[in-house]
Amino acid sequence: MGIFISFETTKSLCSLKECYVQLTSNCETEFEKCDGMKLNSHRFKGKVVLVTGSGSGIGKAIALSFAKESADLVVNDIDFELACEVAAEIEKIGCRSVPIKADVSDFAQVQKMVRHTLGDFQRIDVLVNNACVGSIGLPVEEIDAQQWNVAIGTCLNGTFFCSQAVGKGMIKRKSGKIINISSLGGLAAAPFAAEYTSAKHGVIGLTKALAVEWSRYNVNVNCICPGVVDTSMFRAYARKFPDLARDRIRAIPKGKIATPEDVAKAAKFLASNEADYLAGAILCVDGGSFALLSGYFL
Ligand SMILES: NC(=O)c1ccc[n+]([C@@H]2O[C@H](COP(=O)([O-])OP(=O)(O)OC[C@H]3O[C@@H](n4cnc5c(N)ncnc54)[C@H](O)[C@@H]3O)[C@@H](O)[C@H]2O)c1
Repeated sequence: MGIFISFETTKSLCSLKECYVQLTSNCETEFEKCDGMKLNSHRFKGKVVLVTGSGSGIGKAIALSFAKESADLVVNDIDFELACEVAAEIEKIGCRSVPIKADVSDFAQVQKMVRHTLGDFQRIDVLVNNACVGSIGLPVEEIDAQQWNVAIGTCLNGTFFCSQAVGKGMIKRKSGKIINISSLGGLAAAPFAAEYTSAKHGVIGLTKALAVEWSRYNVNVNCICPGVVDTSMFRAYARKFPDLARDRIRAIPKGKIATPEDVAKAAKFLASNEADYLAGAILCVDGGSFALLSGYFL
């Protein structure tokens, strides 16, 4: 099937081993040739970054990517084994890292996670609200209350619980960056994903509400809307709806799906000083998909 050819293309792009990155240290700038697992720069040195759902997929790429720029990481996931594996990779890069098992849809577990993090690191500079579950792929009339609650609980309540728990410290210190991962499903509806679409629209609304209230405390809240990203979430969707998945890929103006690292780059931009004046921004990392008038293919 067409989509799997696209995955292969993406894989070969991901397997590029070498890159040139800018290394900034003590106000000196130089270029260093590096491979995929080494420290690239010190842009986030001394910063503590908490990424929810970072045991796999986009969250994992974001956590590793911050670590490669010298940040200390809190690797949260509901799956502790996955979180531990990512934390171990980060330690190899040479940064501090703490894996924490917590279900972000559970208020008490989020409070405990943040207390634990503050005990270890004293503060959180960057929060990435990434954890979410994919759509169950049912028509609206067949979604039951429990399935609805899981989607809203993880994507929307989780973003609220984590932002509130972490934001209090950021407000006190008058400094912080919060990056919410929504989706193109937060801007328009895909079929058979009403619970996901509703949760992701909510994440965009919450981003705006937080940005409006917290900008005056120098806490910047912004949002990323990824398009199609090569992770287990999209692969599961593609297995269930191969025709819809193929059409979605065909409608990407860039002609390929995103890698998790593409999203990680946008997250680092929003966490950096370069984005100090951004608040309530919705950044599509979608290869131009949202810009294309619906019904058209290239
Ligand atoms: N993959 C895509 O095409 C795509 C597109 C648009 C948006 N997104 C969004 O990007 C984010 C990451 O998606 P992904 O594709 O990497 O998914 P993924 O399924 O690969 O990873 C999600 C991670 O979150 C963890 N998780 C799930 N529920 C949790 C909970 N309650 N508490 C803590 N951790 C939990 C999972 O164990 C998993 O490790 C999600 O918010 C998703 O909606 C993904």
